[in-house]
Amino acid sequence: MPSIKDILYVRFRVTDLQAQKQFLEDFGFQTKIDGDLLMARGTDETPYIYLAQEAVEPGFVCVGFAAESADALREIAAIDQVPVETNPLEGGGLIARLTDPNGFAVDVVANISAAPSLTVAGRSGLNSGNEKQRLGERVAFADPECSIKRLGHVVLMVNNFQETFEWYQCRLGLLISDEIVMEKEGEEHTLGAFTRCNRGEEFVDHHTLFFIDAGHADFNHAAFEVANWDVLMRGHYELKKAGHQHSFGVGKHLLGSQTFDYWKDPNGFMLEHFTDGDLFNESFGSHKRSPADLLGTHWGPEGMPGQ
Ligand SMILES: [Fe+2]
Repeated sequence: MPSIKDILYVRFRVTDLQAQKQFLEDFGFQTKIDGDLLMARGTDETPYIYLAQEAVEPGFVCVGFAAESADALREIAAIDQVPVETNPLEGGGLIARLTDPNGFAVDVVANISAAPSLTVAGRSGLNSGNEKQRLGERVAFADPECSIKRLGHVVLMVNNFQETFEWYQCRLGLLISDEIVMEKEGEEHTLGAFTRCNRGEEFVDHHTLFFIDAGHADFNHAAFEVANWDVLMRGHYELKKAGHQHSFGVGKHLLGSQTFDYWKDPNGFMLEHFTDGDLFNESFGSHKRSPADLLGTHWGPEGMPGQ
């Protein structure tokens, strides 16, 4: 079975490209407009992690993943007999364009050239109650070129969880981390599952895709990793000051342990800042958890973002 390295980008249609560019910069991306395409990146070496074009009707266009290699990409493309084409965007490489059972467009790419990495938001050592790392110096923050590091995960509402998961598992090699199961009249019903990449012994995010069995197909949110807690909280107050719409947080999820902060962009699409998420490898296995665990937090507001 083929497997992917990681999630790479999300793509949208937005009603006002300039307003979206401003929001993305306030959110912590480095942005540019190339022709009619808005491209945004983080500090990691990927040339873009967010793409948007202007349109009358806003919409979620697709999610992009990085294949392990060109051969793995060809193997994935062969399943649906779709062509492997030259990727026309910056960084080039190869691309296969798939469509999942919900009608979501799914790009899989390989061999995209790395862009030079940007300076990361560092800070001098943290003085926690139990461990003092910063002795004899004032706190100092490195000035980063941008606050976002990378795209971490996407959450999709899907028509049918089982059918959707099997489709992604077969093409992308995803593993279930936590399946949300509800007991009803002695029977188990799956409400959705957090799924992660299978990179063997290598540690990966607790989830790359979370599918919610919703009976309809819709984008829920995309989550971007920031360097640390200070960057997340600084972003929170800067977005607030800029007058953007806050959605949910700050808090720390029970499943995945991400410290989260959810915002709405000018078109109402939910984007998340997160830091300090759990990392697991293949041997973590798959687990069943309750709806209460899904809604629970280590601290902060409980429930689902966007409600
Ligand atoms: Fe999230």
